Amino acid sequence: MAILPKPVSDLTEDEARAELEQLAIDIHYHNQRYHSEDAPEIADADFDQMVRRNQDIEARFPHLIRLDSPSHQVGAAPSAQFTKRRHQVPMLSLSNAFDDEEATEFDHRVKRFLNLPLDKNLAYSVEPKIDGLSISLRYENQHLVAGITRGDGVEGEDVTANIRTISDIPQRLRDCDLEVAEVRGEIFMTKADFQALNIAQEEKGGKVFANPRNAAAGSLRQKDASITAERPLRFFAYAAGEMSAWNVSSHHDYLDQLKGWGFVINPYSHTASSMGDALLQYQVIAAARPELEYDIDGVVYKVDRLDYQNRLGQVSRSPRWAIAHKFPAEKAETRILGIDIQVGRTGALTPVARLAPVTVGGVVVSNATLHNEDYIKDKDIRVGDLVQIQRAGDVIPQVLSVNISARDGQETGFIYPDLCPSCGSPAIRPEGEAVRRCVGQLSCPAQLLERLKHFVSRDAFDIEGLGAKMIAELHHDNLLKEPADIFRLSEHQADLSKRAGWGEISVNNLLAAIEQRREIPLERLIYALGIRQIGQATGLLLARHFGSIDQLMATAEAAIGEDNAAWEELIGIDQIGESMARDLIRFFQDDHNHLALMRLLDQITAIPPEAVAANSPVAGKTVVFTGTLSQMSRAEAKAKAELLGAKVAGSVSAKTDYVVIGADAGSKARKAAELGLMILDEDAWIALTQTAPSA
Ligand code: IVH
Repeated sequence: MAILPKPVSDLTEDEARAELEQLAIDIHYHNQRYHSEDAPEIADADFDQMVRRNQDIEARFPHLIRLDSPSHQVGAAPSAQFTKRRHQVPMLSLSNAFDDEEATEFDHRVKRFLNLPLDKNLAYSVEPKIDGLSISLRYENQHLVAGITRGDGVEGEDVTANIRTISDIPQRLRDCDLEVAEVRGEIFMTKADFQALNIAQEEKGGKVFANPRNAAAGSLRQKDASITAERPLRFFAYAAGEMSAWNVSSHHDYLDQLKGWGFVINPYSHTASSMGDALLQYQVIAAARPELEYDIDGVVYKVDRLDYQNRLGQVSRSPRWAIAHKFPAEKAETRILGIDIQVGRTGALTPVARLAPVTVGGVVVSNATLHNEDYIKDKDIRVGDLVQIQRAGDVIPQVLSVNISARDGQETGFIYPDLCPSCGSPAIRPEGEAVRRCVGQLSCPAQLLERLKHFVSRDAFDIEGLGAKMIAELHHDNLLKEPADIFRLSEHQADLSKRAGWGEISVNNLLAAIEQRREIPLERLIYALGIRQIGQATGLLLARHFGSIDQLMATAEAAIGEDNAAWEELIGIDQIGESMARDLIRFFQDDHNHLALMRLLDQITAIPPEAVAANSPVAGKTVVFTGTLSQMSRAEAKAKAELLGAKVAGSVSAKTDYVVIGADAGSKARKAAELGLMILDEDAWIALTQTAPSA
């Protein structure tokens, strides 16, 4: 079938109806060829395009969705790969509190930001933190049109066909007159269903899952939605994404609204009048935890008033208005069978204990980190020791302590290597540092492989299908020595398909995934380079500041020697300290890194981040706040200014554009007057910034 070229947005209703009918026939036919007869006539990509077109037409004309629509049909979408989709509103993650004190500190932080007295009661919504996977469901005029996984928070995978098989997820909302309502929540599997699934899987020789969360994730991400349909997935709704309008003013009213629309809300959701009250509800939930049908790993506190949530906004990737209060880590005792040394991408040697497998909090653990050389020495950890280990949430399990009284004299001390176990180069531990590092750089296979793994990982280039084993194999065969080689793999297509266990379809999928990444957000590229100390948040800061990799590289190279303007520029960037700046310089100064990057840039294009609110009246301006503000805290004023693209400085200079003065402003106000700068009082500042769109 030829794909009709007319854009979906131009289709008339009659054309759409006719096309949906044809697509239902064609998709069904090719599905049969692919599945039952194992003889596909068309390329996977063409098939996916048909499925996608069908979805797009259905999204625009939800009332035309056919009863036999391929997107409802189980077994309908053997999509080669899930399509990536951007979230209209990013999906954030939560910062953590590990005890009552940290939760109370969060409450104070919120009040300080909102300029509220610390002893005033502030209401929180309190909910169990479900240990599943989050999803964003998009409804347009009541109809479910898309389900997108969290992904990296900015972009997730379109699993619409799969989520349509989950009965807790309404296909159509009751009593909702909104044009757009995105509902977010957690997909999970109950503990009992997980166990039953594993038994059934074992019987038929299928994949056995480590825990209910993995089982839920594996069941959702099925290319064939008929498999998802057979899996008992459940859903709790708890948050909003894009909304065309709001008609509630608190989170607890929003949860009630979700219930009215037809969603399941967790029965332990509770509105607490204060943080003290919230901490009591934490105890209630913690006590109920063992009896719950599903896994939870903590409790979430959310500022209940939505106007407060809006003012609080977000910092980095977490909202300022919510926090997860995690349950204490689970512990267990087991024996150390051996100690291995892993070499990381920056050459750091990390000791890892190989353990007699033990179940901790429902997960089988057979490795635990020993952190570093001194940790082993200080705790006198020996091979053969009985040790206490702990696992908290997603964190790597760690060895806590040795049960000395259980020793029988057979235990052997561990001699820490001073040569890299991967390449044999010296492993050096600089004075005053905890970490020993291999000096082999890219001549060390372990470092090189780790760098490549990091390069393709989810938050970096996110190349699906290029796993650790494949990287190692390609490296061994000289096809993959540096990131640029990834983009040359298509030259070896025939050779790749001939490899044992690879197959034509998976090679095609991989090469398609690689092609999609020839255009990459600049912040991802910077993060992917694996420069020491440069994580995702810093990657974004640098991308925003420099706008291109050339500019970043030129500045880092010009900053060598440190006594120059480029160095000042680097350390002048908010949150970039001297030690980070040195790591940046060191990275770009290295000839090998420089050349490898140049070769990579021949293959790809980096897209600079969108300018933050470029059209706001204060974008690019430098603002100084001084004196006491009455309607907001200094932190809120600063956050809002930055959101609108302004730079907030601590002192007044000729470069300052606006000086905002509150009560009792002192010398800064005088200096501003002397310099003839634009001085605003708090009301004038609010008037100026209120005209601007908020985030
Ligand atoms: S609220 C902006 N509520 O926790 C806040 N999250 O680390 C959005 N989660 O990715 C999340 N139960 O998968 C919220 N009751 C709950 C939750 C919950 C589980 C997960 C969610 C999110 C992660 C954050």
